Amino acid sequence: MPGAIYAEGLVKTFGNVTALDGVDLDVPEGTVLGLLGPNGAGKTTTVRVLTTLLQPDRGKAVVAGIDVLKHPNEVRRSIGLSGQFAAVDEYLTGRENLHMVGRLYQMNAKAAKVRAGELLDRFHLADAADRPAKTYSGGMRRRLDLAAALVVSPPVMFMDEPTTGLDPRNRQQLWEVIQELVAGGTTLLLTTQYLEEADRLAHDIAVVDHGKVIARGSSDQLKARTGGERVEVVVHQADQITPARDVLAGFGKGEVKIETHTRQLTVPVTGGAKLLAEVIRELDAQGVEIDDIGLRRPTLDDVFISLTGHAAETAKDEDTEAAEGRTPSKGRKEDTK
Ligand SMILES: Nc1ncnc2c1ncn2[C@@H]1O[C@H](COP(=O)(O)OP(=O)(O)OP(=O)(O)O)[C@@H](O)[C@H]1O
Ligand SMILES: [Mg+2]
Repeated sequence: MPGAIYAEGLVKTFGNVTALDGVDLDVPEGTVLGLLGPNGAGKTTTVRVLTTLLQPDRGKAVVAGIDVLKHPNEVRRSIGLSGQFAAVDEYLTGRENLHMVGRLYQMNAKAAKVRAGELLDRFHLADAADRPAKTYSGGMRRRLDLAAALVVSPPVMFMDEPTTGLDPRNRQQLWEVIQELVAGGTTLLLTTQYLEEADRLAHDIAVVDHGKVIARGSSDQLKARTGGERVEVVVHQADQITPARDVLAGFGKGEVKIETHTRQLTVPVTGGAKLLAEVIRELDAQGVEIDDIGLRRPTLDDVFISLTGHAAETAKDEDTEAAEGRTPSKGRKEDTK
């Protein structure tokens, strides 16, 4: 049985830009799928198709058990959406915005008012609740938009880059809100460019690039694909690089990489902390003095680079390229720092 969100072979082109090139997804009920990818990967387009805002050229989508293409109105009643760009009414106050959403979802006036109050508190907007939204900062609008998406608690939620533009404290708070939502049984698809966010929130991660899902799995599974752990050593003096390399070569499962200017050596290993202790003993026995040593697990950034050949964060000017409809075949600027 397909999950709460299901997509098969979604294709969407805009002129000569292939935004979606056969996207398949399956999100079991009550879980979070993180759709992770750089600018222009096709994240928003996927969300727009699944939330009935955009008709795909090909493919199939089922949300909350309802066919998205055949019954879009029914799908809309079962989902909540927080888009990439906050959709609040500028001239209404925060409270009025939330109240209006409640009324649109057929809540009675009293229930809508109570719910608006709860959400304003929860998103730390109570002080600004009675000011028009046009006076809000970017982060406040973002929070108001997310609050609006939570007025009714739909069984399936979509959040497109929910924490972009939030400061660290608000990001942390939103993560907590999301975790509570999911604990309550909501199925969530969230898009993000933050690997840390996917790592923290998502049960399952789909990495998208050029309109395709190029890898799928839990964060641990994706990390394992990158080749596991590494030992990193910084030696005290440059003349100790060679003896340190000889020691590491004896333990490593691959090539020892050396960065001479930082006196850092890195080698892929298996065996975890026990092995690390052995490496330290052997370095000591060979008289190698070390400034730093550690076992490094691959980050999702490493995973992304190994899957796509580029980092998840792309150059600033790519936004413009994407907005202008850059063709996916053109090389994307790398910003691997
Ligand atoms: N309405 C449109 N008209 C033309 N091209 C579009 C349109 N919408 C999306 N595209 C193109 O489709 C591709 C995928 O865009 P999409 O917005 O889905 O990317 P994204 O992964 O959400 O990126 P970002 O991280 O920048 O939000 C891009 O190349 C974009 O330029
Ligand atoms: Mg987007």
